[in-house]
Amino acid sequence: MADFTKKILITGGAGFIGSHLVRLFVKKYPHYFIVNLDALTYAGNLENLRDVASFPNYEFERGDINNEKEMARLFERHQFDGVIHLAAESHVDRSILDPLSFARTNVLGTSSLLNSCMNSWRGDLKGKLFYHVSTDEVYGSLGKEGFFTEETAYDPRSPYSASKASSDHFVMAYHHTYGLPVIISNCSNNYGSHHFPEKLIPLMINNIKNNKPLPVYGKGENVRDWLWVEDHAKAIDIIFHKGKIGDRYNIGGYNEWKNIDIINLLCRIMDKKLGRKEGESAKLITFVKDRQGHDLRYAIDASKLNRELGWKPSLQFEEGLEKTVDWYLENEEWVKHVTSGDYRHYYDQQYEKR
Ligand code: NAD
Ligand code: TYD
Repeated sequence: MADFTKKILITGGAGFIGSHLVRLFVKKYPHYFIVNLDALTYAGNLENLRDVASFPNYEFERGDINNEKEMARLFERHQFDGVIHLAAESHVDRSILDPLSFARTNVLGTSSLLNSCMNSWRGDLKGKLFYHVSTDEVYGSLGKEGFFTEETAYDPRSPYSASKASSDHFVMAYHHTYGLPVIISNCSNNYGSHHFPEKLIPLMINNIKNNKPLPVYGKGENVRDWLWVEDHAKAIDIIFHKGKIGDRYNIGGYNEWKNIDIINLLCRIMDKKLGRKEGESAKLITFVKDRQGHDLRYAIDASKLNRELGWKPSLQFEEGLEKTVDWYLENEEWVKHVTSGDYRHYYDQQYEKR
């Protein structure tokens, strides 16, 4: 252990973004020791990290950020220099079905983790960092014009975004009150491999493949700003190493799409890949009851991150989407595994009456 220059705790590392971040750090920084703490909820999957599981600078720890005793033992064992916090309940539709579990994990869980850091780092905060990974959804919903900047006032509107906004406030409160060194980043919608098929893009890919209806909420006019997940992981890497303590950074793709346009594009890509007649998959499009409180548009102004730290997205959306489709078609076992059990129950509950 003595040879490692830093010990970093990544929470939620078995999830979608977390697994990409863990992979990046474990491979890029062999002189860092990375501990991945994850409760392995329905969204966490160790298969996501099979390729780095046996690396000497990586360790997985199953645990719940809410469990203070467990966290205290972990912090005692490792003396972390930094924490990158991604563990969360992350799906808006689930937050509408069960808001309290979002308050529990995202608000209480984050506060509890902040406490664990304070207890472990007490008196010696030099060189330490609590990096909180958050979402652009805390800013609320945009009209047709404008962008979220780091100065945009918080205006969360779903139980998910309210719980993330609240966790962001706790992070800043620990900074201002106790001097905890923190950074927050707020990112737009991610897409890529290992994305749980409850979210728009992987759900549509899976349904197109299986000839199932493609449930478009409302008229499909809502707009999201999509970012390749590996570009998000790279942004976190840069901010973790070069970001200013106490600051926040917006991360986005400069890549706004209406939902219906993405679905049509996916249908065209998959018609080709699956050898279907052009227009065949689009016949599956089904307009269903809108999401309650559905935010119209998210769009990020990421110019601060570009200006101050030199980050910009690397991949064009059409190319990224095709790579994503390829990954899902090549990884049928993964999809089969994560869509068994609880997924079916959730899917019926969410879509059966729409
Ligand atoms: P995800 O749902 O795929 O993964 C979340 C992970 O957290 C899972 O592995 C789960 O097992 C773990 N987890 C949940 N509760 C836990 C607990 N109590 N203790 C320990 N681990 C627990 O989520 P994601 O899409 O990878 O998002 C990761 C983070 O990034 C979240 O904080 C989310 O709010 C934020 N974010 C996501 C997006 C996006 O587009 N997916 C965009 C911006 C920000
Ligand atoms: P989602 O992937 O859940 O991300 P978020 O709500 O956090 O932005 O949804 C992206 C968009 O796609 C959102 O406007 C809701 C819409 N959507 C559908 O139209 N149908 C679906 O089945 C899902 C899951 C989402």
